[in-house]
Amino acid sequence: MAIVLPKLPYDLDALEPHMSKQTLDFHYGKHHKTYVDKANKLLEDSELKDAPLEEIVMRASGTLFNNAAQVWNHNFFWNCLAPAPAKPDKAVQAALSKAFGSFDAFMDQFSENAVSLFGSGWTWLVRDSDGSLEIVKTSNAASPLTDHRQPLLVCDVWEHAYYIDHRNDRLRYLQNYWQLVNWDFVAANFGDAPAPRRGRATRATRATHAPHRGVH
Ligand code: FE2
Repeated sequence: MAIVLPKLPYDLDALEPHMSKQTLDFHYGKHHKTYVDKANKLLEDSELKDAPLEEIVMRASGTLFNNAAQVWNHNFFWNCLAPAPAKPDKAVQAALSKAFGSFDAFMDQFSENAVSLFGSGWTWLVRDSDGSLEIVKTSNAASPLTDHRQPLLVCDVWEHAYYIDHRNDRLRYLQNYWQLVNWDFVAANFGDAPAPRRGRATRATRATHAPHRGVH
């Protein structure tokens, strides 16, 4: 079962002006596609070659893990974005307010986590096996899945996600990111059952709760 590059859920220019067609063209058409191609090449001689993508992420290591996890992370990331998305529904707002103090505080803490991530990686909203919500960062290709945490929302914090549009201004990337968050997708993820408890975090780094930065 080859890993496939899923079709983007919108046109390449659909996220403008917050994310340019050129960024989508490179990010999806070059970076994401390369992870798919490399993972498939590595799977040719792997016992995991017939496994579903999520199982490969859970069981692989080394270069195969890096490429397969990057495929999964990007598949999830594209679904976290939408042109002209609806506002978050009341249940999602209430859950985030309860966990982080207020909905604005959640956005501030998530942005701070992304802006402060050193190097390349991802900032996630996850649900732990006990149902609690956390903002965590992962480096490079690392995924909350391997820590048995359920991803609810993610932001790609690799430079390739924002350098064409914003150069080194990661905070401005985050400001534009919030204009595109697909809250319907997040709400659907909230509706899914939390991951079963099988272990605690090893790859993910807990967020530092920083002062509000007014990024929305
Ligand atoms: Fe990316």
